[in-house]
Amino acid sequence: MALPTINPTTTEAWKKLQEHYQETKDKHLRELFATDTDRGGKFSLAWNDFLVDYSKNRITDKTISLLLDLAEEVGLKSAIKSYFSGEHINQTEDRAVLHTALRAKKGDKIFVDGENIVEEVYTVREKIKAFSQAIISGEKKGYTGKAFTDVVNIGIGGSDLGPVMVTEALKFYKNHLKTHFVSNVDGDLVYEVLKELNPETTLFVIVSKTFTTQETLTNALTIKKWFLKSASEKDIAHHFAAVSTNLEKISEFGIADENVFPMWDWVGGRFSLWSAVGLSIAISVGYDHFEELLDGAHEMDVHFKEAPFNKNIPVVLAMISVWYNNFYGAETEAIIPYTQYLHRFSAYLQQGIMESNGKSVDRAGNRVGHQTGTIIWGEPGTNSQHAFFQLIHQGTKLIPTDFIGYKESLHGDVDHHNKLMANFFAQTEALMNGKTSEEVRKELENQNLSATEIETLLPFKVFEGNKPTNTILIQKLTPKSLGALIALYEHKIFVQGVVWNIFSFDQWGVELGKQLAKNILTDIENSEIGKHDTSTLHLLQNFKK
Ligand code: F6P
Repeated sequence: MALPTINPTTTEAWKKLQEHYQETKDKHLRELFATDTDRGGKFSLAWNDFLVDYSKNRITDKTISLLLDLAEEVGLKSAIKSYFSGEHINQTEDRAVLHTALRAKKGDKIFVDGENIVEEVYTVREKIKAFSQAIISGEKKGYTGKAFTDVVNIGIGGSDLGPVMVTEALKFYKNHLKTHFVSNVDGDLVYEVLKELNPETTLFVIVSKTFTTQETLTNALTIKKWFLKSASEKDIAHHFAAVSTNLEKISEFGIADENVFPMWDWVGGRFSLWSAVGLSIAISVGYDHFEELLDGAHEMDVHFKEAPFNKNIPVVLAMISVWYNNFYGAETEAIIPYTQYLHRFSAYLQQGIMESNGKSVDRAGNRVGHQTGTIIWGEPGTNSQHAFFQLIHQGTKLIPTDFIGYKESLHGDVDHHNKLMANFFAQTEALMNGKTSEEVRKELENQNLSATEIETLLPFKVFEGNKPTNTILIQKLTPKSLGALIALYEHKIFVQGVVWNIFSFDQWGVELGKQLAKNILTDIENSEIGKHDTSTLHLLQNFKK
């Protein structure tokens, strides 16, 4: 069954939300809190070791109820069923979307075109387990008989961002192996990484769903050449592994069958870290931790599938984001984790969210008349406070922001953690309340400034407040809680795609640049430059001089 093709703007709920927006848009969060003493408790959801507080949003009971009506009207319930049951909801590529099957429980049955894929998933999981354990323990060795010390993941986009983000996030749980990531086709990156490596003790994992990606193949060939300077062809079998759906191309590269990890076309690249694409994660933190990551994601899957919409974290957060995107006209969302371990989290989500929902054609093939995917950005707190928070506090743009923090730190330094978390809570409070002119005046009077000085300074020191935030407070950064957190955002992406009536699981928009780069490479490598606009032509001529 296909996903419904309902234009959200034609629904009753959308019209009511427009009216409701007009009625409530000028209400300040201060006022909403003053008139509802239970607001903090009411607009929050406790689930496992997560507490999600969404009370500091420009919403009332009615807003939430209308947003959830919208979710009902666009057929979200049946869409969730289609998503989990393996229907071909990626219609433009005629594929199922089943990254959730990668974290299903053993014995579960999920069918794709009549075949129970969970069995195959577990066969590959066993292979990941055996391989990663043999590398970590030193049982598998390099061509001179030495144990491996370094692992290099060669891949880009979804074949890089997930593994990098998770290995960084779980650094605390890491073993002795050093992990490196080569993604960009920029040769300066690969040569910098190679400087640190000894071919005798390095394992290379080539990750490419298609095994046709220019960047990955170029990097893999450069690395192979470098490796063959000290080793011989037969040693490739000990030092290279590959993850792909394109098994033919892998064997052309010379990789031994035992080091080949399949993936499937029902897993999108940006949702693939749960598959063998996560091999470098399993090698870096150990298979048990990798499995805990998957278990955490699975628990979030169950929550998303089963919780009623008003208690469903991905649904509630997705719909609040729709509220700002489509009614307030907010264009971006910031994601600010208060842990340095998550320093690649927003970069990872940029692909997940923007490649999925950066679409302007609806599911019926028509241009949409409403806004779709939000622009995602962010950096960890407290660093970001000293960088771009000024604009969130006092700039002219409305930037809904997610704050992600943990009750416990991993190294257990209470002094540091209390200071970190004091900032975490203070920022959302400051963003919500701001500082009124009365408060500023009083503060300046206490500093014994003259009346003229006060009046001059006052407008600059006023904080409007009323800036919306969600607070996601989690007990501790563990593989399990990380898995759940990532899955939360994955499902938020899905919900928003359904509401916006777009296809979230293709990415045709990245193809044109790839095609043109191929043509331009010919222009660069040959003496003649082909036909181009005068700007590109002028630039190419200058580059080739
Ligand atoms: O260019 C976009 C993209 O297709 C992503 O969706 C994908 O994650 C990335 O390229 C890498 O693709 P592959 O894993 O096939 O090399």
